[in-house]
Amino acid sequence: MKHTKVIMDKDFQVSRIDRRIYGSFIEHLGRAVYQGIYQPGSPFADEQGFRKDTLELVKELNVPVVRYPGGNFVSGYKWEDGVGPKEDRPKRIDLAWSVVETNEVGLNEFSDWAKKANTDVMMAINLGTRGVAEAMELLEYCNLDQGTHYSELRKQHGYPEPHNIKLWCLGNEMDGPWQIGHKTAEEYGRLANETAKVLKGIDPTIELVACGSSNSGMATFGQWEATVLEHCYDSVDYISLHTYYGDGDHDSETFLANNVDMDRFITDVANICDYVKAKKHSKKTVNLSFDEWNVWYHSWDHDQKLERWTQAPHQLEDVYDFQDALLVGSMLITLLRHADRVKIACLAQLVNVIAPIMTSDTACWRQTTYYPFWLTGKYGQGIVLQTQVDSPKYKNKKFGEVDFVDCVTVYNDEADELVIFAVNKDLQESNTISLDLRQFADYRIIEHVVLHDEDLYAVNTEKDPMRVAPTTSADSKIENGTLTAVLKHKSWNMIRLGKA
Ligand code: AHR
Repeated sequence: MKHTKVIMDKDFQVSRIDRRIYGSFIEHLGRAVYQGIYQPGSPFADEQGFRKDTLELVKELNVPVVRYPGGNFVSGYKWEDGVGPKEDRPKRIDLAWSVVETNEVGLNEFSDWAKKANTDVMMAINLGTRGVAEAMELLEYCNLDQGTHYSELRKQHGYPEPHNIKLWCLGNEMDGPWQIGHKTAEEYGRLANETAKVLKGIDPTIELVACGSSNSGMATFGQWEATVLEHCYDSVDYISLHTYYGDGDHDSETFLANNVDMDRFITDVANICDYVKAKKHSKKTVNLSFDEWNVWYHSWDHDQKLERWTQAPHQLEDVYDFQDALLVGSMLITLLRHADRVKIACLAQLVNVIAPIMTSDTACWRQTTYYPFWLTGKYGQGIVLQTQVDSPKYKNKKFGEVDFVDCVTVYNDEADELVIFAVNKDLQESNTISLDLRQFADYRIIEHVVLHDEDLYAVNTEKDPMRVAPTTSADSKIENGTLTAVLKHKSWNMIRLGKA
């Protein structure tokens, strides 16, 4: 059996975790909104038409923030179409996804849904087809109390209290040639700065996210961030990162190594932020919002063949397998290891569309990826400790030699728990990790939770919703102040230690 040595120390800390790294995303896309969170007439619908079964799973996930309404969708969206009496709302073409948007759900309904889901809204602004004026009007509608045109309009629409949305995205993926209203870094940087200035003038309590690169492979990556931040460094709080990984080649070893790219991407963007900071002699630090991340590839072929201009089709409905859950687990470990710079992250997305939660007319169930996301969010609270991992390595086609074992330790000072998250990417062999417990010597094992399946391609479906689900392991022990735990081959693990 292989062996991995893990070293941590309570006094060597990366950062306190910002809970918003466990955020998610709902776009007007496919069946995310319509049939996913909203389905009037369904036996699961509440008095507003929101699906209660979906709400229960979203509440279980306890996502602190949900980005809305897009995504590519937002770059052609008129928010005014989705407010006021439903019978007056226009049906529009959504050019981003070649479908029809009915506007039955808009920002007021979504805010109601967010309250029911115990989450906050992270609102994205259209900077594709629209500009400074419309962004100002939207913020006035959402956050101003009363006495102005748009705040009074919100009241007329039945919302006397402001929504008080604190987190705003200045557009979406504006570096991407596919984006409606795509811009150069110069064009976008200036627009982001001018928009940011007036938005903070209207409500100085908000935080703003500027668009970074759509992924680390973009030809403009690096230069884009530097140029955009040259323009808007002083007026924004975060820069975004997006990434999706796939296994089109059926090469699991390479697929599971993709979080190496995520790790480098984060380091590079943080360095660019600090380069602009130094150049500007600024005291302010711009942090990172990884506001779209996931696996996405299973639905590509299906979606190429979709008929245009239908309403809420089955679109981007990836059915996630067990190996996707392993990579999602590793990506969460990567985000935690960078908790000093990544303050917001959104698993893209939340329901039906590349999502941990799926719905049909008759049920709602958890995909494989639900489990690492749920358990990391639930128990990965408190302070990330610097975690030295001395793991055996393997070679793969894209990243050269990488560690078999990804690992991070988190000290939850409120619950007085030490939590270890680890993924063993070895497809054949188990790996024993040993961890010198140092200041945690009097702790005991509360539980060792494992997600493992012999079949990398096993999936959860409506008929078999628990095919891939966590179990507990008895294969860990503490002896002479050292934790020894067996990580099964191809497995995600969470080991909780406490004084109980
Ligand atoms: O999440 C799906 C899409 O991926 C989003 O609309 C877009 O921002 C990204 O390219």
